[in-house]
Amino acid sequence: MPNVKIAVRPNGPYKITGPVEIVDAAGVVIPTDPNDEAIFLCRCGESAEKPFCDGMHKTCSFTPDGANPF
Ligand code: FES
Repeated sequence: MPNVKIAVRPNGPYKITGPVEIVDAAGVVIPTDPNDEAIFLCRCGESAEKPFCDGMHKTCSFTPDGANPF
């Protein structure tokens, strides 16, 4: 079975490595580039490309809150 790893980036997105499929709330697959070595999912809520990170966490100076320190 292939390994999938989800890593929390400090003050940034979730980094997912390994073969995964991202689906929306309706179960529709959200296309990803199979050549990318990782997928980055937004954790700050500010991305214009949700569910993917677009780097806005740097602009909004995202830091996890006390209830969700990861
Ligand atoms: S975590 Fe990067 S844009 Fe939200």
